[in-house]
Amino acid sequence: MRALKPNIYEVGAIDFDRRLFDELIPLPDGTSYNAYVIKGTEKTALLDTVDPPKTNCLIENLVKAGVDKLDYIVAHHAEQDHSGSIQDVLTIYPEAKVVTNEKCRQMLIDLLCIDDDKFIVVEDGQTMSLGDKTLQFVYTPWVHWPETFVTYLQEDRILFSCDFFGSHFAATPLYVEDKPTIYDAAKRYYAEIMMPFRTNIKKNLEKIENLDIDIIAPSHGPLYQEPAFIVDAYKDWVSDDVKNEVVIAYVSMHHSTAKLIEHLVGALADRKITVKQFNLTVTDIGKLAISLVDAATLIIGTPTVLTGPHPLAVYAAYLANVLRPKTRFVSIVGSYGWGGKMEEKIKSLIPNIKAQLLEPVVIKGYPKSEDFSAIDELADAVLQKHKELKIAD
Ligand code: FEO
Repeated sequence: MRALKPNIYEVGAIDFDRRLFDELIPLPDGTSYNAYVIKGTEKTALLDTVDPPKTNCLIENLVKAGVDKLDYIVAHHAEQDHSGSIQDVLTIYPEAKVVTNEKCRQMLIDLLCIDDDKFIVVEDGQTMSLGDKTLQFVYTPWVHWPETFVTYLQEDRILFSCDFFGSHFAATPLYVEDKPTIYDAAKRYYAEIMMPFRTNIKKNLEKIENLDIDIIAPSHGPLYQEPAFIVDAYKDWVSDDVKNEVVIAYVSMHHSTAKLIEHLVGALADRKITVKQFNLTVTDIGKLAISLVDAATLIIGTPTVLTGPHPLAVYAAYLANVLRPKTRFVSIVGSYGWGGKMEEKIKSLIPNIKAQLLEPVVIKGYPKSEDFSAIDELADAVLQKHKELKIAD
C-alpha cells in the first residue's frame, strides 16, 4: 500500500515477474495493476481492482488502508487486469456497488458474471460525492476498449486514467523518477495498446485538457506528478507528424534477403535517413511496435517459402496492420528461388496501413549488381518521398 495523500491510497499490486501480457506482449520490466482507495467523510470508493492472480495483494492492501466498509467500486475498464478481482471484493464488501458506464456494465456482466443489481450506471460528466471529495466521471472511449472512462477527483486534482497514459513498468516508487525510462515504457505501451485508436485518443486528450490536473494516476506503472510530461508525449505520438525514419522488419533463410537488407541499410544511412532494423527471428515485437509510432516508411524483407512470404514476415505484416501506424510509405524487399506470390501476399496483409507503395525489389536468387542498383533506386525513392514531406534534407 502506498499513500498519495491523506485518505488516498494506491492499493494494487506490483508484478515484477510477469513477462508476457495477453500471451502476446513482452513485458521486459514487468508491470503493475494500480488500484486506488479514496476515503471521503461519508463514503469510500475503490477505483479498479487487479489481475486475478494478484487478488491477495489487493485484499491485504485494503486491510492495511483500514477499509472496513466499501461503498463503491469504480470500474473504468472491463479488461480483467483491472476488473478481474471485482467479484472477490464484492464477496468481502457485499454492500459495495460497482460504478461504471452502461457499456462497461454489460461487458462486466458478460465477462465476470456480476449480478445486474450490483451496478450504479453513471453518465459522461456526472459527479458522485464521497462527502468532502467529489468524483467526476469523464468518458474516454477507446483507450483502448470502447467502454473506457476516467475519474477526476476534483478537490485533489488527480486524474485516475486507468490504461490511458499507463506503462508496463514494475517499480516501488509511486511516482516517475527516471523520466527517460518511463518515457520509453509508456511509448511501448502506447504502441502496443493505444496506437490503433490514435484518432479517438486525440479527442480524449482534448477532453481532459479542460481539467486542472496535478497528478495523473494510471492503472499501470508509476504516477505522473508532472502531467505535461506524459500528455505532451501522447500529443506527439498521436499527431500526424512522421520522422525521417525507415523501419525494416526482415527475415532471411540463405542470406539473399539479408544481403539486400544490408545494402539497403547502408544506402539509406548514406542518405541521412535513420534506419530501425529488426531481424524477426530474434526481435522483441514491442520494440518493433515502438519504432512504428514515428517512422515515415516501413519495409518488409522476406524470402519466399512455399510460394509465399516467410511466416515471420507474415506475422510482422499482420501485426503492423492491426496496430495501424501512421506510416506513409511501404515497400517489400526479398528473393525467391523459382517463383511465388510473396509480394502480393504481403500487400494483401496490410490494408489498414494507408501508405503509398514504393516499387518493391524482389529478385531471383542471390543479389547481383543490378539488384543492388534496384535497392539504391528504392533508397532514392524513400529519400525523395521524405523530402516531399519536408522531413529529410
Ligand atoms: Fe490494463 Fe486494457 O487493461
